[in-house]
Amino acid sequence: MTRINIFDTTLRDGEQSPGVNLNQLEKLEIAKQLERFGVNVMEAGFPASSRGDFEGVKSIANTIQNASVTGLARAVKSDVDAAWDALKGGVDPRLHVFIATSPIHMTHKLKKSPDQVVATAEEMVRYARKTFPKVEWSAEDASRSDLDFLVHIIERVIDAGATVINLPDTVGYTTPYEYGKMFRYVTEHVPNIDKAILSAHCHDDLGMALANSISAIENGATQVEGTINGIGERAGNAALEELAVALHIRKDYYNIDTSINLGETKRTSDLVSKLTGMFVPRNKAVVGQNAFAHESGIHQDGVLKHAETYEIITPELVGVHSNDLVLGKHSGKHAFKDRLKKLGYDMSDELLSKAFGEFKQLTDHKKTITDDDLFTIMTDIQTSA
Ligand code: KIV
Ligand code: ZN
Repeated sequence: MTRINIFDTTLRDGEQSPGVNLNQLEKLEIAKQLERFGVNVMEAGFPASSRGDFEGVKSIANTIQNASVTGLARAVKSDVDAAWDALKGGVDPRLHVFIATSPIHMTHKLKKSPDQVVATAEEMVRYARKTFPKVEWSAEDASRSDLDFLVHIIERVIDAGATVINLPDTVGYTTPYEYGKMFRYVTEHVPNIDKAILSAHCHDDLGMALANSISAIENGATQVEGTINGIGERAGNAALEELAVALHIRKDYYNIDTSINLGETKRTSDLVSKLTGMFVPRNKAVVGQNAFAHESGIHQDGVLKHAETYEIITPELVGVHSNDLVLGKHSGKHAFKDRLKKLGYDMSDELLSKAFGEFKQLTDHKKTITDDDLFTIMTDIQTSA
């Protein structure tokens, strides 16, 4: 069994979601829940970006006991210094420093030659290691970078002291096959790669962040970065709750485990949604309101006979108290009778057929039938009997 490290960046990349702005107390609240959720590393913010973020990262670093707290820094000394000041009180401080490696970023954004980028990356990692015991170095836009350039710069930053090498798909451009190939290439060509952990960091612009992350794992990554509910820049990051549950449910296939406490999944998702104001779509995998709801009669009948007919994840696994058989126009008699029984009605087949007829009529006008609707139906039927 291989252990994968979970690196949460809800409080940094997640907070970069347009429209999200968490205050210090909200950040701390989320950090404590992430600790209960069992993440290994949490990126609490970008200390050099503002006084508020600096203070937020500092209070998280000084509070969290069971995870390593990190902060982001550009490859400039003042960012590294600010990060150290914010993180030094933590139990396991680490720095996350990045520089772009793709031709488009180096030419147009950084206006640096590839050799200058290598020199800056090396210098910054070496500088950071004077204070930080652990340094993660990220090759921003790695998935659009030249593979042999990546091999060269990674070898140099590992020599300079980087302990984690992160290869982000910054713009969500890559495919699972291509992203996996990059990890395989790096694993096979960087001579000192065994001195560092390889990490994946995927964005969801083409809806492939989770698939790409899993492909990275299959090709040598032992750390995956993502956010709760998949929030983040543009279309967001890989959703960590989906990753953790997918690895758990298909343990037979992946043979991988994580330190995640899956029973805290729903609570973590709800808190992040509430404090960020980023609503979770009803049909979202694992934590959406419909994830354990069944409406069609065939599915409801199957689930009542044996839950595993249509449920591969039990609601209890992720901290949801029970599955939800939604009564609507596709529902059948079996689910209808079962709900009435739970409401305390034990009736003859004749009365049941009558009530079912009324219920079906109501579904022509109403999408979801509530328990109150059922009480009304039953009262009408019983008083007219
Ligand atoms: O997506 C990205 O490239 C990032 C880096 C800062 C790691 O978030
Ligand atoms: Zn990112």
